[in-house]
Amino acid sequence: MLRFCCLLDILQRITGFNLLHVKEGFHCIWFGPNPVITMFSPEVIELVLSSSISLEKSFEYSFLQRWLGLGLLTSTGTKWKSRRKLLTPSFHFKILDDFLPTFNDQSMFLVKKLESLQHKEYVDITPLVILCTLDIVCETVMGASIGAQKGENIEYVSAVHNLGNFFNQRTVRPWLWLDCLFSLSSSGRGFDKDLHVVHSFTEKVIREKKEERNNKPLLKEEVSEDDFKTKKRLALMDLLLDLHMNEQQLTENDIKEEVDTFMFEGHDTTAMGIAFALYCIGLDPGIQEKIHEELDAIFGEDHERHITMDDARNMKYLECTLKESQRLYPSVPMIGRKLNEDIHYKHWMIPKGTTLHCNIHTYTEGKIYIRRPKCSIQKDSCQRIHRTDIRTPIYHSLQDHEIALVRNLHC
Ligand code: HEM
Repeated sequence: MLRFCCLLDILQRITGFNLLHVKEGFHCIWFGPNPVITMFSPEVIELVLSSSISLEKSFEYSFLQRWLGLGLLTSTGTKWKSRRKLLTPSFHFKILDDFLPTFNDQSMFLVKKLESLQHKEYVDITPLVILCTLDIVCETVMGASIGAQKGENIEYVSAVHNLGNFFNQRTVRPWLWLDCLFSLSSSGRGFDKDLHVVHSFTEKVIREKKEERNNKPLLKEEVSEDDFKTKKRLALMDLLLDLHMNEQQLTENDIKEEVDTFMFEGHDTTAMGIAFALYCIGLDPGIQEKIHEELDAIFGEDHERHITMDDARNMKYLECTLKESQRLYPSVPMIGRKLNEDIHYKHWMIPKGTTLHCNIHTYTEGKIYIRRPKCSIQKDSCQRIHRTDIRTPIYHSLQDHEIALVRNLHC
């Protein structure tokens, strides 16, 4: 019997069920008349996500809709396809080059802050990292600086963070699933308050950016797809405003839902990724030493200079470490879909309407499908890891930001 209390508890129980059904690669729990299947073997996940089976987002995503509208994360079908096509330039790898100065400035700020806390017995690193990723994502997405690390815009910063927590709480408390009951609850009231803060902030930035453009319009060629790949440092907001003001393909509300979606998706995932990577690295002096050697080889004595893209490309061992930590502690442990047609797998028929939860955490965690000791990275050299052929999901290939699900990865 599931006891609904916290997300971690639920995840642990689901992982326990997974271990009981290793052979099948999935298991089913009935919520009244509704089957909910948790999938965790590469074959089943691949069957569902990489074929042309008709899917939509599972019902939990509806809890995000008052906040994110029907943006990329929450939309399905033709709406998702057309929106995704419009926004493809903003997922281009080259964007990272343009925003390197932002990454550098904000990371330097974080490092200085950590230096000033050295005398403390321990520091909870997660809130500090969250502020840093929020600053970075806000600048790259909205083209606006919120100064989260400097303690500015506190109301917006905590509201964005709280909304994510309210969502997590709601998914594991079935009595809050009905909108009317959620609205009456203290979580629902907190959610509404924070939602107002976040939406007002996004609307204000959109208004200001629009005014800026009306006063000094960007030339059409300045926001062409090429510019997102090459020269100019344009935030996602620039692309969206172009699609709104020049192409009339998006409304102001569409802009708001995408900006809010990227703000949520962008800051929380990266913050958790960094926090868990630091945790893993902190556990192992051997790994720390190797990372240190690699960075010393790149920077020598110069500890202040800004990182270039070439530097980043040379951080091979660090890259392996980050991927390994994502494998062990994925920032998004689970995604959900609803089947729009019957599917067949071995001798099972999974009926239309079934909710499918793709359990990234169990699948990548290694106990079951990846035959590799948990911390192999600490003993092996980077070359050794290069040779290790593991099957792992890449949540976002940076080139394309698609969930390319099961792919052979040679770190
Ligand atoms: C460690 C970093 C990240 C991880 C592990 C991650 C993981 C994921 C996953 C698993 C999904 C699929 C969610 C689903 O379909 O239910 C997703 C979607 C998405 N992510 Fe990320 N993400 C990361 C960073 C980012 C960043 C930095 C941004 C933007 C600034 C971003 C924006 C998005 C958007 C817009 C979607 C919806 C895409 C679509 O459906 O077309 N993510 N992410």
